[in-house]
Amino acid sequence: MQKNKSIVLGITGGIAAYKAAELVRLLVKNNIDVQVVMTEAACQFITPVTLQALSGKPVYTGMWDASVPNGMPHIELSRAADAILIAPASADFIAKLVHGRADDLLSTLCLARDCPLLIAPAMNKQMWENPATQRNIVLLKTDAVAVLGPASGDQACGETGLGRMLEAEELLYLINAHLQPKLLKGKKILITAGATLEMIDPVRAVTNISSGKMGYAIAQAAFEMGADVTLVSGATALVPPMGIHTISATSADAMYQTVMQHVCGQDIFIGVAAVADYSPIAMQAHKIKKSESSLTLELKRNKDILAEVASLPNAPFCVGFAAETENLLTYAEVKRNAKKLPLIVANLVSDAMRSEENTVTLLDKNGAHPLPRTSKIEVARLLLKHVNNLLK
Ligand code: PMT
Repeated sequence: MQKNKSIVLGITGGIAAYKAAELVRLLVKNNIDVQVVMTEAACQFITPVTLQALSGKPVYTGMWDASVPNGMPHIELSRAADAILIAPASADFIAKLVHGRADDLLSTLCLARDCPLLIAPAMNKQMWENPATQRNIVLLKTDAVAVLGPASGDQACGETGLGRMLEAEELLYLINAHLQPKLLKGKKILITAGATLEMIDPVRAVTNISSGKMGYAIAQAAFEMGADVTLVSGATALVPPMGIHTISATSADAMYQTVMQHVCGQDIFIGVAAVADYSPIAMQAHKIKKSESSLTLELKRNKDILAEVASLPNAPFCVGFAAETENLLTYAEVKRNAKKLPLIVANLVSDAMRSEENTVTLLDKNGAHPLPRTSKIEVARLLLKHVNNLLK
């Protein structure tokens, strides 16, 4: 089994320290080991006991902790970590990092580290915009420190502007991205996701129950692996993911046009969207009034986006999905052959649609490769590793 990733979470003094509690909870839930280290100022905003309860580990707050066997927590803690994240990172702590100061456990730990350092700044907007802070941020980036955020919005002091710490979920997303191997660095990948919506009249539509979760998870996993990701999104309630060029295209025709505009130069195309095979011949300009006891809708066949992309002269590596209610592998293999795809992902509607997890089988020229039932993001990571192997 793969070893859990492990991070040191450094908390410095700022009101955003309260968000660190939620961040620890999410990290632990995502099987990331968290060792919390707090500055003295951080303890004014949130107690070590809270972070200990959430991380399941004692929290370090000072240099002189006798519980570390060799008495050198500043060395021990960073050696065990895959990364150090400072969240929130105050203006003062950022300035200390720039100068290589080492006057408390957290700053010493950062100076003695042998792993990547990420910071999530949080401060008043004037402090953030101050030329001194901006100079410090440039210098930290030159030293290969990853700066996550800050975001813009309402601040605890009552002002509005840049300086808010990113939300815990956003930080989790970026940390996950940081911890994944960059298998797809330099690769361009185009993905369709979600349901299409074929309008009948201004208020009614033909659609399906795809949530977009599987396609969005693949986009996230590709981003984590360093790819340049374009996501063509059908109808979904999901929020466009950070770091991903997301284009909304809700009808099958709009999705086809958008994919064709962006497919040139792509290395990989993955069709995850549940695209309507048929749409109304024409959308009615006005709401259809009920009159007869039945209504007949005339539908026309839509273009098959995946088949069209796969038949392009310089086609990218094309991956299809097949959601079936019966004869899963047989039907999926028929689709793979009909659309001339090197790889198709077979899933049952009952396993895949709208759920947080999925059970899939990858079908390629070498046969069937069943994957264990797991979260959609894990399925996505395993799928992309398989694609990367096939590309090699
Ligand atoms: O969105 P979720 O709730 O997370 O659910 C995920 C999912 C079940 C939608 C996803 O895992 C999935 O299986 N997507 C494909 C759905 C399907 O069965 O598509 P299909 O059999 O109609 O098409 C096969 C392939 O051709 C798919 O890759 C599809 O994107 C593509 N296609 C189909 C028709 C069309 N006009 N254009 C296409 O590109």
